[in-house]
Amino acid sequence: MENLQQIADLIGQCTDCNLHRSRLNVVPGEGVSNAEIMFIGEGPGQNEDRQGRPFVGAAGNLLDEMLESIGLNRGSVYIANMVKCRPPGNRDPLPDEILSCSKYLDRQIEVIDPLVIVTLGRFSLGKFFPGEGISKARGSLRYYEGRPIYPMLHPAAALYRRELKGTIYQDFKALPDILNNLRRSRMIEPQTDHPQINIEEPPTQMTLF
Ligand code: URA
Repeated sequence: MENLQQIADLIGQCTDCNLHRSRLNVVPGEGVSNAEIMFIGEGPGQNEDRQGRPFVGAAGNLLDEMLESIGLNRGSVYIANMVKCRPPGNRDPLPDEILSCSKYLDRQIEVIDPLVIVTLGRFSLGKFFPGEGISKARGSLRYYEGRPIYPMLHPAAALYRRELKGTIYQDFKALPDILNNLRRSRMIEPQTDHPQINIEEPPTQMTLF
């Protein structure tokens, strides 16, 4: 099986859709290949396009904060996007761009084979559950072809609507329990081939959100 670097190299040479014309850098994704959690966002924005790294702008800062709130960091997860090149002017990715880029995301999922995929926002939710609304779907573990999917709001939503920050945090705080249950159900004993993550039980105040 190919590895993440080989997939990133293919992405770096990709000219399969028009997004390659305006990109400064491709943004294949970032993290560890044996991550238990794989986050899938929408697509690179301006900062990501400049740096070639996912979620490095304001939404990324919030994602880092939320990871930290459950004892994780970028070194213990994988962060990818639906499209690997910035849609000009930060417009939504078009269906044909998403379709054309999905071959890379599918290969990344296959290589990482995470315990859970966390979809951030409606575009990545739509990859697994087309036509479903994010406000209804968020915060409940679902399965797609046997793979656990946990839909969440996109962190950028909390930047535009501050009142959503509590909801995103609440969904995030459920992740350690979800992981623990999935580990149990896969009968994975203390991780050997996954990075050692110190997952704490969710704090009791989560019910306050
Ligand atoms: N940055 C990303 O890398 N992806 C998003 O979906 C938003 C910001």
